[in-house]
Amino acid sequence: MAQRTFSIVKPDAVRKGFTGAILAEIDKAGFQIVAIKKASISKQQAQGFYYVHKERPFFDDLTTFMSSGPLVLMVLEKDNAIADLRQLMGATNPANAEEGTIRKKFAGSIQENAIHGSDAEDTAAFEIAYWFAGYELI
Ligand code: CMP
Repeated sequence: MAQRTFSIVKPDAVRKGFTGAILAEIDKAGFQIVAIKKASISKQQAQGFYYVHKERPFFDDLTTFMSSGPLVLMVLEKDNAIADLRQLMGATNPANAEEGTIRKKFAGSIQENAIHGSDAEDTAAFEIAYWFAGYELI
């Protein structure tokens, strides 16, 4: 059954000019782009998005990084979208990512790891609603 997930091309990948190549991987894997927008977000917006990580030692660096330059916010749809995108992305740490995954190809470090994808249905619902209004998702 078609499922939606939320994804970000992170500032490191946008800065390095990898946006088009990452979108091509997503397209080739059979995802429909329901909504997409390029934005520069504030540190406060990044803190709200990643609030589940607020007690983690990397929270401050992560939210500084995510607000350091333009990124691309997307809602993607396909059967099994959440798990399939996680597989296409590869492990959080690119050093552990499988050959052929987006993070293996484009990520520089565990923090500057090129792409985000929701990890479950409830987080996908929160993340989509955090960045997109209902009228943008028709
Ligand atoms: P993401 O999938 O967006 O979810 C949380 C993010 O926190 C993760 O990708 C990384 O960018 C970052 N992250 C996770 N673990 C670490 C870590 N150990 N050190 C630094 N950043 C991390």
